[in-house]
Amino acid sequence: MEKKRVFRMAIMALLLFAFIAIPMVVMAAGNAAEGEKLVHGRPVANCVGCHHFPNIVMPSTIAPDLVDLMNNSYTEKDREKLRQIVADANKFFPDTMMPSYGKGKLLIDKKKGEDKLSPEEQKKLIEKRIDDIVEFLYSLKKK
Ligand code: HEC
Repeated sequence: MEKKRVFRMAIMALLLFAFIAIPMVVMAAGNAAEGEKLVHGRPVANCVGCHHFPNIVMPSTIAPDLVDLMNNSYTEKDREKLRQIVADANKFFPDTMMPSYGKGKLLIDKKKGEDKLSPEEQKKLIEKRIDDIVEFLYSLKKK
């Protein structure tokens, strides 16, 4: 009897781990591969229109080279600052032509009907996409 209970508790603990701990770890940081798609994507994000990134045939030079900046200027401590720059570039660079991706619907894909989602869901999607983009920026650091 006692053994069965211990066994059941172990299973419960495992399930709890699977359903709570694993998603938490996965959700904690952004997803660099998703971020890369956003950075290259049109109409969503399209950072490549202005910035240089790897694997671009005709790199744009009108904005700072982010590969260079990620390797020489930004460290792991700047994660929050980078999030804020992507969300609201204007706060850091007045009169910049870089869009403030955290405001408005630049990271919302209308073709996929995402503009029909509730404002809260859209906000969550935007936050997640900013995390993904920042994660991608960190992936540009040479290991
Ligand atoms: C319309 C052009 C444009 C687009 C699109 C754009 N940027 Fe920028 N970005 C700039 C310019 C120009 C600057 C330099 C700041 C200024 O205006 O002086 C800049 C600055 C930055 C900086 C700060 C660089 C520094 O000097 O520290 C980061 C980080 C950045 N951009 C990331 C992004 C990311 C990520 C995206 C896509 C989600 C993006 N940018 C899209 C034009 C753009």
